[in-house]
Amino acid sequence: MQNAMPEKLLYELSVPDQRGVRLPKSDVPLAEPLPIGLRRAEDAPLSEVSENEIIRHFHRLSNLNHHVDRDFYPLGSCTMKYNPKVNEKIVNDPHLSELHPFTPTRFCQGALEVLYELGEQLKAITGFAGVTLQPPAGASGELTGLLMMRKYHTSQNDNIRKRVIIPDSAHGTNPATIHAAGCEVIELKSGPDGTVDTEEVRKVADERLVGMMITNPNTLGIFESNIREISKIVHRAGGFMYMDGANLNALLGITTPAKMGFDVMHINVHKTFSTPHGGGGPGAGPVCCVEKLEPYLPTPVVRKEENIFFHDWARPKSIGKMQGYFGNFLILARAYAYILANGKDGLQEVSQAAIINANYLRILLQSDYDIPFPDRCLHEVVLSADKQAKQGARALDIAKRLLDFGIHAPTIYFPQIVHEAMMIEPTETETKETLDRFVDIMRQIAKEAEEKPEFLHDAPYTTPI
Ligand SMILES: Cc1ncc(COP(=O)(O)O)c(C=O)c1O
Repeated sequence: MQNAMPEKLLYELSVPDQRGVRLPKSDVPLAEPLPIGLRRAEDAPLSEVSENEIIRHFHRLSNLNHHVDRDFYPLGSCTMKYNPKVNEKIVNDPHLSELHPFTPTRFCQGALEVLYELGEQLKAITGFAGVTLQPPAGASGELTGLLMMRKYHTSQNDNIRKRVIIPDSAHGTNPATIHAAGCEVIELKSGPDGTVDTEEVRKVADERLVGMMITNPNTLGIFESNIREISKIVHRAGGFMYMDGANLNALLGITTPAKMGFDVMHINVHKTFSTPHGGGGPGAGPVCCVEKLEPYLPTPVVRKEENIFFHDWARPKSIGKMQGYFGNFLILARAYAYILANGKDGLQEVSQAAIINANYLRILLQSDYDIPFPDRCLHEVVLSADKQAKQGARALDIAKRLLDFGIHAPTIYFPQIVHEAMMIEPTETETKETLDRFVDIMRQIAKEAEEKPEFLHDAPYTTPI
């Protein structure tokens, strides 16, 4: 992409006395002038830029970046699907956006109702009895769930439980969270079909288990069809089943994690309910759980009695607070808007379309790329660039080349159990035309790998940096 304007830092655009905005002179009398020692000796070195220039500057920066409003974003697993503009309209209403978190509850009943009703919707969608909206990301939800599981065990004077089972296809945040919660990782090798081998679970299910953490469908996009049997084994050993709910967008209205035997899970609202991805912090990772774990949820939880909404702090067994204030309210409000906009039937169609889209790509790309688990997938498909690597172009080269076509790279080298992995998640929101364009580009790249692999090493050629 050629930029007419050379890239400059904001400070380099500064011209003395240029102004983007002129504020009226303050007519508020200072109660007491600032003490001399606290005053600036010189003006702050702020950029002086005209309104046009500053708007153009940030507009240019946003175009240098790839984002979901610009083009297809098939990055598997941590996918951004899209951010509906109606969500932005709703959360920019000053009644929501300008609400102070310390507003007394009698003055923010509407906001509490949004949180309460979102919690009820998430409980219905997952089949669970309890919910917290506090964790600010999926990974933080994982930590919340694990701390709840541990606290349950220690409150039963069961202090030897430290182990958490994960499959070798687990997302990187899973083992990291297990360590952060002071537990030990027991990693299981996946079976030849890409799913967890029930017998392997049986071997490690004993009185040292805090529980098992597993994504379903797993990170290969494959449904763990033995999940109920696995849940039974873990429960018999006294452990809990934690679902990494990043892939809930494959299950909406079709089944629930509760039915599979899970006890607690987080939801990545950026994947399933169209919110911007907070990347570890400014997002949301609500946690839902069974009744047995409900007392351990973080404080406070939003409750409703006689049509009055309030924060319930009186929860003696709670693990405490996981996030300042009450979670990222405006992210949560966006998720609520998406759920209401789709309704029950619409949410089921969301998952069905996500599954159809991934399978469409799986079928069309199988002639050009290896697919290690070729028979089925749900909402995402994992290809392998093994064939291309032998020709001299690796998954990294293919991912970089995709950028030249204005498409975000897929997730590569994950899950680690697939050689030269390229994980692609189209989501339900992409059109057939976009998917067809993607397939054409992937085929062209496969041809380039065959004919001139060195050309792919030097890609990208058209990105700004
Ligand atoms: C399978 C899986 N688990 C956990 C996470 C972590 O979620 P977050 O990035 O919101 O912390 C992700 C990323 O979306 C994921 O794909």
